Amino acid sequence: EKDGHAWFMLKEIAEQPQAVADTLRGRIGEHGEIMLDEVRLTDQDLRDVDKVFIVSCGTSYHAGLVAKYAIEHWTRIPCEVELASEFRYRDPVLDRSTLVVVISQSGETMDTLMALRHAKEQKARVLAICNTNGSTIPRESDAVLYTHGGPEIAVASTKAFLTQLAACFLVGLHLAQVRGVKYADEVGAVLAQLQEMPAKIEKVLAAMDPVRELGRQLAETNASTVLFIGRHVGYPVALEGALKLKELAYLHAEGFAAGELKHGPIALIAGPAGDGRAFDRGTPVVCIVPSPAGRGVLHDKIVSNIQEVRARGAHTIVIAEEGDDAVVPYADMLVRVPRTPTLLAPFVTTVPLQVLAAAIADASGHDVDQPRNLAKSVTVE
Ligand code: M6R
Repeated sequence: EKDGHAWFMLKEIAEQPQAVADTLRGRIGEHGEIMLDEVRLTDQDLRDVDKVFIVSCGTSYHAGLVAKYAIEHWTRIPCEVELASEFRYRDPVLDRSTLVVVISQSGETMDTLMALRHAKEQKARVLAICNTNGSTIPRESDAVLYTHGGPEIAVASTKAFLTQLAACFLVGLHLAQVRGVKYADEVGAVLAQLQEMPAKIEKVLAAMDPVRELGRQLAETNASTVLFIGRHVGYPVALEGALKLKELAYLHAEGFAAGELKHGPIALIAGPAGDGRAFDRGTPVVCIVPSPAGRGVLHDKIVSNIQEVRARGAHTIVIAEEGDDAVVPYADMLVRVPRTPTLLAPFVTTVPLQVLAAAIADASGHDVDQPRNLAKSVTVE
Protein backbone atom coordinates (compact mmCIF):
# COMPACT_ATOMS: atom_id res chain seq x y z
CA GLU A 1 0.00 0.00 0.00
CA LYS A 2 2.99 2.29 0.46
CA ASP A 3 4.28 1.32 -3.00
CA GLY A 4 7.64 0.25 -1.65
CA HIS A 5 8.15 3.40 0.40
CA ALA A 6 8.92 3.20 4.10
CA TRP A 7 6.31 5.83 4.93
CA PHE A 8 3.12 7.16 3.38
CA MET A 9 4.67 10.60 3.46
CA LEU A 10 7.47 9.46 1.15
CA LYS A 11 4.94 7.87 -1.18
CA GLU A 12 2.91 11.07 -1.21
CA ILE A 13 5.98 13.21 -1.89
CA ALA A 14 6.77 10.93 -4.83
CA GLU A 15 3.20 11.18 -6.11
CA GLN A 16 3.34 14.95 -6.48
CA PRO A 17 4.00 15.12 -10.23
CA GLN A 18 0.95 12.95 -10.87
CA ALA A 19 -1.15 14.75 -8.29
CA VAL A 20 -0.49 18.16 -9.83
CA ALA A 21 -1.20 16.76 -13.30
CA ASP A 22 -4.50 15.40 -11.96
CA THR A 23 -5.48 18.80 -10.58
CA LEU A 24 -4.90 20.41 -13.97
CA ARG A 25 -6.42 17.60 -16.04
CA GLY A 26 -9.53 18.52 -18.01
CA ARG A 27 -9.46 22.09 -16.80
CA ILE A 28 -7.45 23.73 -19.55
CA GLY A 29 -9.14 23.84 -22.94
CA GLU A 30 -7.54 23.62 -26.38
CA HIS A 31 -7.54 27.36 -26.81
CA GLY A 32 -6.18 28.12 -23.36
CA GLU A 33 -9.59 28.65 -21.82
CA ILE A 34 -9.89 27.55 -18.21
CA MET A 35 -12.85 25.31 -17.65
CA LEU A 36 -14.09 25.36 -14.11
CA ASP A 37 -17.69 24.45 -14.86
CA GLU A 38 -18.04 22.55 -11.64
CA VAL A 39 -17.26 25.74 -9.76
CA ARG A 40 -20.86 26.90 -10.30
CA LEU A 41 -20.02 30.58 -10.16
CA THR A 42 -21.15 32.41 -13.27
CA ASP A 43 -18.83 34.70 -15.18
CA GLN A 44 -21.00 37.56 -13.97
CA ASP A 45 -20.53 36.46 -10.35
CA LEU A 46 -16.79 36.51 -10.92
CA ARG A 47 -16.87 39.91 -12.61
CA ASP A 48 -18.65 41.28 -9.55
CA VAL A 49 -15.92 40.19 -7.15
CA ASP A 50 -14.09 43.19 -5.70
CA LYS A 51 -12.23 41.47 -2.90
CA VAL A 52 -10.84 37.99 -2.29
CA PHE A 53 -10.20 36.43 1.12
CA ILE A 54 -8.36 33.14 1.36
CA VAL A 55 -9.01 31.40 4.66
CA SER A 56 -7.37 28.18 5.86
CA CYS A 57 -5.06 26.57 8.44
CA GLY A 58 -1.53 25.16 8.54
CA THR A 59 -0.12 24.07 5.22
CA SER A 60 -3.34 25.06 3.45
CA TYR A 61 -2.81 28.58 4.82
CA HIS A 62 0.67 28.61 3.29
CA ALA A 63 -0.82 27.65 -0.07
CA GLY A 64 -3.13 30.65 0.30
CA LEU A 65 -0.19 32.94 1.05
CA VAL A 66 1.48 31.88 -2.20
CA ALA A 67 -1.78 32.28 -4.12
CA LYS A 68 -2.18 35.88 -2.97
CA TYR A 69 0.89 36.97 -4.96
CA ALA A 70 -0.46 35.34 -8.09
CA ILE A 71 -4.10 36.38 -7.75
CA GLU A 72 -3.36 40.04 -7.06
CA HIS A 73 -0.82 40.18 -9.87
CA TRP A 74 -3.08 38.64 -12.49
CA THR A 75 -6.45 40.06 -11.48
CA ARG A 76 -5.63 43.31 -9.66
CA ILE A 77 -8.30 42.37 -7.13
CA PRO A 78 -7.16 42.88 -3.52
CA CYS A 79 -6.62 39.51 -1.86
CA GLU A 80 -6.15 38.89 1.84
CA VAL A 81 -5.07 35.62 3.38
CA GLU A 82 -6.03 34.77 6.89
CA LEU A 83 -5.82 31.93 9.37
CA ALA A 84 -9.29 30.52 9.80
CA SER A 85 -8.99 30.60 13.58
CA GLU A 86 -8.36 34.37 13.46
CA PHE A 87 -10.73 35.30 10.66
CA ARG A 88 -13.94 34.26 12.34
CA TYR A 89 -13.29 36.05 15.57
CA ARG A 90 -12.37 39.46 14.22
CA ASP A 91 -15.40 40.71 12.32
CA PRO A 92 -13.88 40.91 8.82
CA VAL A 93 -15.50 43.21 6.24
CA LEU A 94 -17.45 40.96 3.88
CA ASP A 95 -20.37 41.40 1.52
CA ARG A 96 -21.92 39.94 -1.63
CA SER A 97 -19.03 41.02 -3.80
CA THR A 98 -16.44 39.31 -1.61
CA LEU A 99 -15.16 35.93 -2.77
CA VAL A 100 -14.01 33.82 0.16
CA VAL A 101 -11.81 30.92 -0.90
CA VAL A 102 -11.52 28.29 1.82
CA ILE A 103 -8.72 25.76 1.32
CA SER A 104 -8.78 22.42 3.09
CA GLN A 105 -7.28 19.05 2.22
CA SER A 106 -9.60 17.12 4.52
CA GLY A 107 -12.66 19.31 4.13
CA GLU A 108 -13.34 18.74 7.83
CA THR A 109 -11.12 21.28 9.62
CA MET A 110 -13.35 22.86 12.24
CA ASP A 111 -11.76 26.32 12.21
CA THR A 112 -12.08 26.54 8.43
CA LEU A 113 -15.65 25.27 8.54
CA MET A 114 -16.62 27.88 11.14
CA ALA A 115 -14.93 30.61 9.07
CA LEU A 116 -16.90 29.51 6.01
CA ARG A 117 -20.16 29.61 7.93
CA HIS A 118 -19.32 33.09 9.16
CA ALA A 119 -18.56 34.23 5.59
CA LYS A 120 -21.87 32.84 4.35
CA GLU A 121 -23.78 34.59 7.09
CA GLN A 122 -22.23 37.85 5.85
CA LYS A 123 -23.48 37.00 2.33
CA ALA A 124 -20.03 36.47 0.83
CA ARG A 125 -19.68 33.83 -1.89
CA VAL A 126 -17.64 30.88 -0.76
CA LEU A 127 -15.51 28.72 -3.01
CA ALA A 128 -13.88 25.64 -1.46
CA ILE A 129 -10.62 24.16 -2.71
CA CYS A 130 -10.66 20.68 -1.28
CA ASN A 131 -9.16 17.23 -1.75
CA THR A 132 -11.87 15.13 -0.15
CA ASN A 133 -15.00 14.50 -2.16
CA GLY A 134 -18.24 15.02 -0.33
CA SER A 135 -16.65 16.33 2.88
CA THR A 136 -18.35 19.00 4.99
CA ILE A 137 -16.52 22.10 3.76
CA PRO A 138 -17.31 21.64 0.06
CA ARG A 139 -20.86 20.59 0.92
CA GLU A 140 -21.49 23.84 2.76
CA SER A 141 -19.73 26.07 0.21
CA ASP A 142 -21.41 27.77 -2.75
CA ALA A 143 -18.91 26.18 -5.09
CA VAL A 144 -16.04 23.73 -5.04
CA LEU A 145 -12.88 22.99 -6.95
CA TYR A 146 -11.57 19.55 -6.06
CA THR A 147 -7.81 19.08 -6.19
CA HIS A 148 -8.05 15.38 -7.19
CA GLY A 149 -4.74 14.69 -5.44
CA GLY A 150 -5.78 11.25 -4.20
CA PRO A 151 -5.88 10.28 -0.51
CA GLU A 152 -3.26 11.88 1.72
CA ILE A 153 -2.63 9.57 4.67
CA ALA A 154 0.48 11.05 6.31
CA VAL A 155 -0.34 13.75 8.85
CA ALA A 156 2.20 16.08 7.26
CA SER A 157 0.69 17.59 4.18
CA THR A 158 2.75 17.39 0.99
CA LYS A 159 0.91 16.65 -2.22
CA ALA A 160 -2.10 18.51 -0.88
CA PHE A 161 0.01 21.69 -0.80
CA LEU A 162 1.16 21.46 -4.41
CA THR A 163 -2.29 20.55 -5.69
CA GLN A 164 -3.82 23.42 -3.72
CA LEU A 165 -1.37 25.75 -5.41
CA ALA A 166 -2.37 24.41 -8.82
CA ALA A 167 -6.07 24.86 -7.97
CA CYS A 168 -5.55 28.39 -6.63
CA PHE A 169 -3.63 29.36 -9.75
CA LEU A 170 -6.45 28.05 -11.95
CA VAL A 171 -8.90 30.18 -9.97
CA GLY A 172 -6.67 33.25 -10.29
CA LEU A 173 -6.13 32.76 -14.01
CA HIS A 174 -9.82 32.13 -14.56
CA LEU A 175 -10.70 35.34 -12.72
CA ALA A 176 -8.19 37.22 -14.87
CA GLN A 177 -9.63 35.71 -18.07
CA VAL A 178 -13.22 36.44 -17.17
CA ARG A 179 -12.51 39.98 -16.09
CA GLY A 180 -10.16 40.71 -19.00
CA VAL A 181 -7.84 42.84 -16.90
CA LYS A 182 -4.36 44.03 -17.69
CA TYR A 183 -2.56 40.77 -17.09
CA ALA A 184 -5.06 38.60 -18.95
CA ASP A 185 -2.47 38.37 -21.76
CA GLU A 186 -0.17 36.48 -19.48
CA VAL A 187 -2.73 33.76 -18.88
CA GLY A 188 -1.81 31.59 -21.88
CA ALA A 189 1.88 31.67 -21.05
CA VAL A 190 1.29 30.84 -17.40
CA LEU A 191 -0.99 27.94 -18.29
CA ALA A 192 1.73 26.46 -20.46
CA GLN A 193 4.23 26.88 -17.61
CA LEU A 194 1.80 25.29 -15.15
CA GLN A 195 1.55 22.23 -17.35
CA GLU A 196 5.33 21.87 -17.20
CA MET A 197 5.28 21.62 -13.41
CA PRO A 198 4.79 17.84 -13.09
CA ALA A 199 7.95 17.17 -15.14
CA LYS A 200 9.90 19.76 -13.16
CA ILE A 201 8.82 18.28 -9.82
CA GLU A 202 9.92 14.89 -11.14
CA LYS A 203 13.34 16.34 -11.87
CA VAL A 204 13.66 17.72 -8.35
CA LEU A 205 12.65 14.37 -6.85
CA ALA A 206 15.34 12.59 -8.85
CA ALA A 207 18.08 14.71 -7.26
CA MET A 208 17.22 14.42 -3.56
CA ASP A 209 20.02 12.14 -2.29
CA PRO A 210 22.17 15.01 -0.94
CA VAL A 211 19.13 16.45 0.87
CA ARG A 212 18.44 13.10 2.52
CA GLU A 213 22.08 12.95 3.55
CA LEU A 214 21.84 16.44 5.06
CA GLY A 215 18.75 15.26 6.94
CA ARG A 216 20.70 12.37 8.42
CA GLN A 217 23.51 14.72 9.47
CA LEU A 218 21.11 17.16 11.07
CA ALA A 219 19.43 14.32 12.94
CA GLU A 220 22.73 13.35 14.54
CA THR A 221 23.28 16.77 16.03
CA ASN A 222 21.71 18.83 18.69
CA ALA A 223 21.00 21.71 16.33
CA SER A 224 18.74 23.91 18.42
CA THR A 225 17.05 25.59 15.47
CA VAL A 226 16.85 25.63 11.71
CA LEU A 227 15.91 28.88 10.00
CA PHE A 228 14.32 29.36 6.60
CA ILE A 229 14.41 32.61 4.64
CA GLY A 230 12.65 33.66 1.47
CA ARG A 231 11.16 36.66 -0.27
CA HIS A 232 7.95 37.06 -2.29
CA VAL A 233 6.47 33.57 -2.82
CA GLY A 234 9.66 32.17 -1.27
CA TYR A 235 8.48 33.56 2.06
CA PRO A 236 5.45 31.26 2.41
CA VAL A 237 7.67 28.42 1.17
CA ALA A 238 10.03 29.24 4.06
CA LEU A 239 7.08 29.10 6.47
CA GLU A 240 6.05 25.74 5.04
CA GLY A 241 9.58 24.33 5.32
CA ALA A 242 9.71 25.37 8.97
CA LEU A 243 6.29 23.89 9.72
CA LYS A 244 7.36 20.56 8.23
CA LEU A 245 10.44 20.47 10.48
CA LYS A 246 8.48 21.33 13.60
CA GLU A 247 5.79 18.75 13.09
CA LEU A 248 7.98 15.89 11.86
CA ALA A 249 11.42 16.38 13.40
CA TYR A 250 10.27 18.07 16.64
CA LEU A 251 12.96 20.59 15.90
CA HIS A 252 12.55 24.29 16.42
CA ALA A 253 12.36 25.99 13.05
CA GLU A 254 11.20 29.37 11.84
CA GLY A 255 10.53 30.89 8.47
CA PHE A 256 11.25 34.56 7.87
CA ALA A 257 10.77 37.09 5.14
CA ALA A 258 14.44 37.64 4.36
CA GLY A 259 13.95 41.41 4.45
CA GLU A 260 13.01 41.15 8.12
CA LEU A 261 16.31 39.59 9.18
CA LYS A 262 17.82 42.91 10.22
CA HIS A 263 14.75 43.71 12.25
CA GLY A 264 15.50 40.99 14.77
CA PRO A 265 15.92 37.40 13.61
CA ILE A 266 19.54 37.79 12.48
CA ALA A 267 20.46 37.81 16.18
CA LEU A 268 19.62 34.10 16.24
CA ILE A 269 22.46 33.26 13.87
CA ALA A 270 25.57 31.86 15.49
CA GLY A 271 28.75 30.37 14.08
CA PRO A 272 30.17 26.94 14.87
CA ALA A 273 30.47 26.31 18.60
CA GLY A 274 33.71 24.42 18.08
CA ASP A 275 32.59 21.65 20.41
CA GLY A 276 33.11 18.89 17.86
CA ARG A 277 29.48 17.85 17.45
CA ALA A 278 28.62 16.13 14.20
CA PHE A 279 26.93 19.17 12.69
CA ASP A 280 29.08 21.85 14.21
CA ARG A 281 28.78 24.22 11.29
CA GLY A 282 26.82 27.16 12.58
CA THR A 283 23.07 27.79 12.55
CA PRO A 284 21.57 26.03 9.53
CA VAL A 285 19.75 28.56 7.35
CA VAL A 286 17.77 27.31 4.37
CA CYS A 287 17.57 30.04 1.73
CA ILE A 288 14.90 29.95 -0.96
CA VAL A 289 16.22 31.87 -3.95
CA PRO A 290 13.95 33.17 -6.70
CA SER A 291 14.86 33.05 -10.37
CA PRO A 292 17.38 35.69 -11.43
CA ALA A 293 15.25 36.14 -14.57
CA GLY A 294 12.23 38.44 -14.43
CA ARG A 295 12.32 39.85 -10.94
CA GLY A 296 16.09 40.34 -10.80
CA VAL A 297 15.92 42.80 -7.89
CA LEU A 298 14.35 40.16 -5.71
CA HIS A 299 17.11 37.74 -6.56
CA ASP A 300 19.89 40.26 -5.81
CA LYS A 301 18.31 41.13 -2.48
CA ILE A 302 18.24 37.56 -1.31
CA VAL A 303 21.80 36.96 -2.42
CA SER A 304 22.83 39.80 -0.09
CA ASN A 305 20.73 38.29 2.69
CA ILE A 306 22.55 34.99 2.23
CA GLN A 307 25.88 36.82 2.43
CA GLU A 308 24.74 38.55 5.62
CA VAL A 309 23.78 35.37 7.45
CA ARG A 310 26.88 33.58 6.26
CA ALA A 311 29.10 36.40 7.48
CA ARG A 312 27.62 35.77 10.92
CA GLY A 313 28.51 32.12 10.87
CA ALA A 314 25.39 30.46 9.42
CA HIS A 315 25.65 27.21 7.50
CA THR A 316 23.72 28.09 4.34
CA ILE A 317 21.63 25.55 2.48
CA VAL A 318 20.69 27.32 -0.71
CA ILE A 319 17.85 26.29 -2.99
CA ALA A 320 18.40 27.98 -6.32
CA GLU A 321 17.63 27.34 -9.94
CA GLU A 322 20.00 25.73 -12.42
CA GLY A 323 22.44 28.19 -13.91
CA ASP A 324 22.18 30.69 -11.05
CA ASP A 325 25.90 31.17 -10.43
CA ALA A 326 25.60 34.24 -8.23
CA VAL A 327 24.72 32.12 -5.19
CA VAL A 328 27.61 29.66 -5.54
CA PRO A 329 30.18 31.52 -3.39
CA TYR A 330 27.75 31.81 -0.48
CA ALA A 331 26.24 28.33 -0.47
CA ASP A 332 27.63 25.77 1.95
CA MET A 333 25.22 23.38 0.32
CA LEU A 334 23.51 24.03 -2.98
CA VAL A 335 20.27 22.33 -4.02
CA ARG A 336 19.41 22.91 -7.67
CA VAL A 337 15.86 23.15 -8.98
CA PRO A 338 14.81 23.56 -12.63
CA ARG A 339 14.37 27.08 -14.01
CA THR A 340 10.89 28.23 -13.14
CA PRO A 341 9.20 31.65 -13.27
CA THR A 342 9.00 33.24 -9.83
CA LEU A 343 5.26 32.83 -9.23
CA LEU A 344 5.42 29.12 -9.97
CA ALA A 345 8.70 28.45 -8.16
CA PRO A 346 7.00 27.05 -4.99
CA PHE A 347 6.09 23.92 -6.99
CA VAL A 348 9.77 23.06 -7.13
CA THR A 349 11.33 24.82 -4.11
CA THR A 350 8.96 23.22 -1.57
CA VAL A 351 9.89 19.65 -2.50
CA PRO A 352 13.44 19.61 -1.01
CA LEU A 353 12.03 21.00 2.25
CA GLN A 354 9.52 18.14 2.48
CA VAL A 355 12.26 15.60 1.78
CA LEU A 356 14.55 17.20 4.36
CA ALA A 357 11.94 17.10 7.13
CA ALA A 358 11.02 13.49 6.40
CA ALA A 359 14.71 12.49 6.36
CA ILE A 360 15.44 14.11 9.73
CA ALA A 361 12.34 12.55 11.28
CA ASP A 362 13.15 9.11 9.91
CA ALA A 363 16.80 9.26 10.98
CA SER A 364 15.71 10.42 14.44
CA GLY A 365 13.51 7.36 14.81
CA HIS A 366 10.24 9.31 14.81
CA ASP A 367 7.01 8.08 13.31
CA VAL A 368 7.09 10.03 10.05
CA ASP A 369 3.43 9.45 9.20
CA GLN A 370 1.98 10.01 12.63
CA PRO A 371 3.90 12.70 14.54
CA ARG A 372 3.19 13.01 18.23
CA ASN A 373 0.28 15.19 19.40
CA LEU A 374 -1.15 15.64 15.89
CA ALA A 375 -4.17 14.38 14.01
CA LYS A 376 -4.65 14.32 10.25
CA SER A 377 -7.84 16.22 10.40
CA VAL A 378 -8.43 18.74 13.15
CA THR A 379 -12.14 18.57 13.80
CA VAL A 380 -12.12 20.49 17.07
CA GLU A 381 -11.29 24.15 17.55
O1 M6R B 1 -7.29 19.45 6.04
P1 M6R B 1 -6.80 20.86 6.07
O2 M6R B 1 -6.10 21.26 4.83
O3 M6R B 1 -7.89 21.84 6.42
O4 M6R B 1 -5.76 20.89 7.25
C1 M6R B 1 -5.13 22.08 7.64
C2 M6R B 1 -3.98 21.80 8.58
O5 M6R B 1 -4.42 21.14 9.73
C3 M6R B 1 -2.88 20.96 7.91
O6 M6R B 1 -2.41 21.54 6.73
C4 M6R B 1 -1.69 20.77 8.88
O7 M6R B 1 -1.07 22.01 9.11
C5 M6R B 1 -0.70 19.75 8.33
N1 M6R B 1 -0.47 18.70 9.30
C6 M6R B 1 0.63 20.35 7.99
O8 M6R B 1 1.51 19.41 7.45
